[in-house]
Amino acid sequence: MALWGGRFEGGVDAPTQQFGASLPVDKHLYKQDIAGSLAHAAMLAKQGIISAADYDAIASGLRQIEAEIDAGAFAFDIADEDIHMAIEAELTRRIGEAGKRLHTGRSRNDQVATDTRLAAKALVRQLMEANLELRRTLVDVAQANKGAILPGMTHLQHAQPVLLAHHLLAYYWMFTRDFKRLSSAFDAADASPLGSAALAGTSYPLDRVAAAYAMGFTRVIPNSLDAVSDRDFLLDLHFACSTMAMHLSRLAEEIVLWSSSEFGYITLSDSFSTGSSIMPQKKNPDFAELIRGKTGRVYGNLMQLLVTCKGLPLAYNKDLQEDKEGALDSARTLSQCLSVMAGMVGTMQVNAERMRSACRTGHVAATDVADYLARKGMPFREAHEIVGKLVLECDKRACQLDDLPFEVFAEASPLFGADIAGALDIDAVVAARTTEGGTAPAAVAEQMRLVRTSLVADEALVAGLGTVIPMGEGA
Ligand code: ARG
Repeated sequence: MALWGGRFEGGVDAPTQQFGASLPVDKHLYKQDIAGSLAHAAMLAKQGIISAADYDAIASGLRQIEAEIDAGAFAFDIADEDIHMAIEAELTRRIGEAGKRLHTGRSRNDQVATDTRLAAKALVRQLMEANLELRRTLVDVAQANKGAILPGMTHLQHAQPVLLAHHLLAYYWMFTRDFKRLSSAFDAADASPLGSAALAGTSYPLDRVAAAYAMGFTRVIPNSLDAVSDRDFLLDLHFACSTMAMHLSRLAEEIVLWSSSEFGYITLSDSFSTGSSIMPQKKNPDFAELIRGKTGRVYGNLMQLLVTCKGLPLAYNKDLQEDKEGALDSARTLSQCLSVMAGMVGTMQVNAERMRSACRTGHVAATDVADYLARKGMPFREAHEIVGKLVLECDKRACQLDDLPFEVFAEASPLFGADIAGALDIDAVVAARTTEGGTAPAAVAEQMRLVRTSLVADEALVAGLGTVIPMGEGA
């Protein structure tokens, strides 16, 4: 009989029971459930609501059960419906009456909200660590390829040359913003609903703060109705994951392009490439494509929870049981994507010569030629027009700006001097962009200082997150 079976004469048939059960999903929260029960029982004993002897029996029973699940030696029974009842029923089988006192002053509604928040904290912390790992890798690759220059693009057309380091650090900052979103998702989850009971609080003299601290929460939720029905903290997790997946998919797309024979800017290591079952010559960027493709399911999980929560009246509704699967899936997906991306970027070969020779096409110094004239006093709009004509001339001759004989420049404007060659030099073009946040080596070195400061700050933030109950591996 179910733990709630007292008022029933009939039972639910097996397929319906399976339909209602969340055990296949929430059994992965067994460590959070047990930590929550330990904190609750300790607080009940401290408040004199259960005896010290009952607490001891409960605590040792729960620890035993946890060790068994950790070891993969626990047989879950779907008839138990969810992890909360599976553990409580087993505890009672083992220790008898004391087990039946564990649920005093508690409901599955505050229990599941507590477990889910503890799990969200563990998942988000893992993601923060994986995010930092990828950011460190981007910095290392930027640092190791300081001199590499490639054509920066707009509209996927050659625009102006940029340092590869600058390009990679653009991704560094995207992931740094993602870290901030993760950190705020962690904070959103970091409040205890326990003690809210079913919806209205309880008549037992609970010490909610003591139980919250024992589980590693920094605060308690001030409204019991909100506490049992709020899943915003999961939406924050989903949104952080979705934006990060979007950033990863952009980087993945560049990796796919750059590793093609058309670009040839990078060569992926064999350990992050796959072959074809029919074409012997193929080396495919499957893992980059898969990271790009995983974005869809992560967005889907965000959408699913938004829709699930829409229009729910206060307080708990069984719809909320649909909250955990997507969150676990998105967190696991992102963890994998982040670590595969770090491995792929960290081991790819950078073909700096190929990048540099790509700068020979697309007139990437054209803006600098116009700037040259503007610096000699010509209004920029006029200079733009003249250089546009020179580019047209290049296209007719099928050559680049620096292939044009000096006479063509001189004919276009008397302001052109022999030093125009300097304006066309790719290194000089890059080195000239010294504005803060620009691509000049000096500006990028300055940026690198900001990068390092932000890394140190975010590493310290993770180290200071406090106690987090790790996800169990045994279920
Ligand atoms: N398995 C449920 C969930 O995941 C636990 C809470 C059930 N509460 C209830 N009153 N039916 O949401």
